[in-house]
Amino acid sequence: MNIHFDPVLRIFSISTDHSSYVFGINDKGILQHLYWGDPVAAADCAPLLGSRSHSSFDAALDREAEEYAYWGGLSYMEPSLKVRWHDGVRDLRLDYEGYAIEQQDGRETLTIMLKDEYYPLQARLIYTVFPGLDLIERSAVIDNCGSQDIVLENVQSAAWTMPVLPRHRLTHVTGKWSGEFQLRNTDLSEGKTVLESRRGFTDGHANPWFAIDGGNASEQSGQVWFGALAWSGNWKIVAEKTAFELVRVTGGINDFDSEWTLQPGHSFATPTFVGGYVSDGFGAMSRMLHRYQYEVVAPDRGLRKVLYNSWEATYFDVNVQDQMELAERASRLGVELFVIDDGWFGQRNHDHAGLGDWTVNSDKFPNGLGELIHKVRGLGMEFGIWVEPEAVNPDSDLYRSHPDWVYHFPTRSRTELRNQLVLNLSMPEVKSYILSFMSELLGQHDISFIKWDMNRTITEPGMHNHPLNRQKELWTRHVHSLYEIWAELREKFPHVAFETCAGGGSRIDFGMLRYADQAWPSDNTDAFDRLSIQEGFSYVYTPKLMTCWVTEEISGMNKRATSIAYRFHSAMTGTLGIGANLNHWSKDQLAEAAALVDQYKAIRPLVQEGRQYRLGMLKHKGVEAVQYVGSDGNGGEESVLFAFLHSQKLGDRLPRLLLQGLNPDKGYRIDGIDGVHSGQSLMRIGIELPLRGDFDSLMYHIREQ
Ligand code: DGJ
Repeated sequence: MNIHFDPVLRIFSISTDHSSYVFGINDKGILQHLYWGDPVAAADCAPLLGSRSHSSFDAALDREAEEYAYWGGLSYMEPSLKVRWHDGVRDLRLDYEGYAIEQQDGRETLTIMLKDEYYPLQARLIYTVFPGLDLIERSAVIDNCGSQDIVLENVQSAAWTMPVLPRHRLTHVTGKWSGEFQLRNTDLSEGKTVLESRRGFTDGHANPWFAIDGGNASEQSGQVWFGALAWSGNWKIVAEKTAFELVRVTGGINDFDSEWTLQPGHSFATPTFVGGYVSDGFGAMSRMLHRYQYEVVAPDRGLRKVLYNSWEATYFDVNVQDQMELAERASRLGVELFVIDDGWFGQRNHDHAGLGDWTVNSDKFPNGLGELIHKVRGLGMEFGIWVEPEAVNPDSDLYRSHPDWVYHFPTRSRTELRNQLVLNLSMPEVKSYILSFMSELLGQHDISFIKWDMNRTITEPGMHNHPLNRQKELWTRHVHSLYEIWAELREKFPHVAFETCAGGGSRIDFGMLRYADQAWPSDNTDAFDRLSIQEGFSYVYTPKLMTCWVTEEISGMNKRATSIAYRFHSAMTGTLGIGANLNHWSKDQLAEAAALVDQYKAIRPLVQEGRQYRLGMLKHKGVEAVQYVGSDGNGGEESVLFAFLHSQKLGDRLPRLLLQGLNPDKGYRIDGIDGVHSGQSLMRIGIELPLRGDFDSLMYHIREQ
């Protein structure tokens, strides 16, 4: 048993292999957080339990550490739950009612029941423990047990209380289109630091996770507390520090412009907020979260395929002839999955028209898609296709027939972004339109991969099909409906893999990753820019989910020229794809690319399923390095190292790079370097990197001997 309740001390404890999480019910009936960190005996936390007051201005300090902060009485911090009753009262008083510990599907779950002292509302706080991963999943379910509506003005998934530390340093990512997942850290000061999306989807300007350390954790050492939300709509993570040095991180669906009317007899379940603690640095944090994806979140379908995507090669100028030629060349390189992107349907000759009309364009494909699919299959590859089901161009048959199918306010103009509007997914007819065209597409064609895109944010959030007092449910309803659509499609077409994309990396989160097999992190395919995007991505998400394309020698993005090897190495650190116009590549270029695809296939299990180590020690010299370690299938260990040099001044030698994750007592051979090297020497003395000049790179395959 990993979950325990001491009825005398009134203390709950959740233990994982390397951590303890402890809270109790105090003398005021408040569910008070007590401890989270290295393992302790729950009883030793007893002295921490108890209400505390400083003055009438700081009357309930214990509520600063509340497990789930209801807004009512003496609660002034970021609330976890805020409601409005039918009679206009806006005060909540949750009393502890009881608990249940259950085993389900081999997982242990704790449910704490809280009830309002007067009104018929029950809150169930749910904790699921993953002992081997040192993670706890938290969420809340709110039940309306009465006969009147209850308005949920704010309902968060969980609040995580941090220990007292000399500093509380917050690590997170920020970004923009084509520059997603940029790492940042900042010391928290008193007040709130808010990470959030208000744009309708997860967003590339931030991503729903946080990590907190005492200011001194590194990749390989130090205590780190962290969490990530499984929500693909508007979300919010608030790190709040009080004058009494308490830090609490609250997260869930963003309460901005949001409300949910909970009808009698109904329940509202929040998304999951997974949290964890490690004592050995950010690298360990990421590896835990990666394992969580492999073992818990992401549907496993084995190794991801080397894909070709024609977007950057042909853009909207798609036609069967060009695509067949690209497919022939792609197959000669060893590509396993050929994907056609935007432009194959309706009047989609540019981004001004056609979106929403999901019939094959007969000028581009006179014999339907079948001709291309037959060719691709004949070449030994699988076939994939792009869709953007949630959006519509006003210049489309769909919009002309159903102008009321988009979110809008009747008195306002409809803001177009990339010349498109967003479909109102809360309408049953819209949902069934999407399900039926997708089912037709997948049912009538031999398609194994869908790239699901979404190229704009939501504006004018009005749903004419809902009562005026329920308009603010839109942000949540969109996501619920989207999840339902994905779940139904996955169930109906279990052989189809899905990629989540939103103009790049704007919809990547643990909510979406329950359905998606892989993710498109950014439209920026410049091999150097990608390194920092991919590093930020890797803090939480696995390399296996990260699709990376090799594109042209001179990047269309920022005109930087890099070699084929550099571009491949950068893309080989995730799931390899190719997005260049192969019809323009020379024989020599194609031969070099084919050899690199072969090399990727040899190390793919390490990248996609091994343990990832970010080697940042030479960053100050312009070197990015990342290493993967896994099993060689014969009881031994194998590893691969990628290193990238930005630029070098003449005579500026690089210090040796220390590897990680190897067995110190084993000997290893490195392709291209003579001799056998002990794990100990590779990790303590390191290896020399023969990188020179600008944008140089290497890949070393390291095998236990
Ligand atoms: C945005 C995506 O991120 C691109 O990869 C491409 O699919 C375009 N949309 C197509 O419109």
